[in-house]
Amino acid sequence: MRLSIFANYLGSGDSNPEALGLYIVKSLNKYDILYSHMIEPRMKTLAEMAECPQSLVSIRKSFNNTFIVAGGYGREDGTKAVAENRADLVAYGRQFLANPDLPKRLELNAPLNKYNRNTFYISDPVVGYTDYPFLDETITA
Ligand SMILES: Cc1cc2nc3c(=O)[nH]c(=O)nc-3n(C[C@H](O)[C@H](O)[C@H](O)COP(=O)(O)O)c2cc1C
Repeated sequence: MRLSIFANYLGSGDSNPEALGLYIVKSLNKYDILYSHMIEPRMKTLAEMAECPQSLVSIRKSFNNTFIVAGGYGREDGTKAVAENRADLVAYGRQFLANPDLPKRLELNAPLNKYNRNTFYISDPVVGYTDYPFLDETITA
């Protein structure tokens, strides 16, 4: 179950997203749902990060199974979120799109390809989706 409870674009905003999130995860607990994947409140508008006082921590604490977070994470803060028990797992969106070998790059602390916003959501099946180079290609290029 993946939810963006704090999102407010396209009329999706809620007057009390934290209460909504708590209600949802408590409901999911009743069905022993395997994981809850939530987008950080800082991602209010589409793929843009903003400072924000809200957090997913109380919702994380109320969910019984695996809790996944996403939204603006990099190597350091992703590792920190798991180490501080704010999540079981961290999902990467744009970094994964731009780096087909992201786990390897994170493991090696290798440089990352920069994502190109202009090719997000375009209909071409290759450009912006499967044409970012692997690390080996970057090194030998
Ligand atoms: C090109 C593109 C397509 C996306 N498609 C979806 C989607 O179909 N469903 C969804 O829940 N999120 C989608 N997202 C949002 C990402 O899954 C993710 O939540 C968002 O990019 C924030 O995480 P990030 O900072 O790691 O990129 C998409 C993002 C991008 C850039």
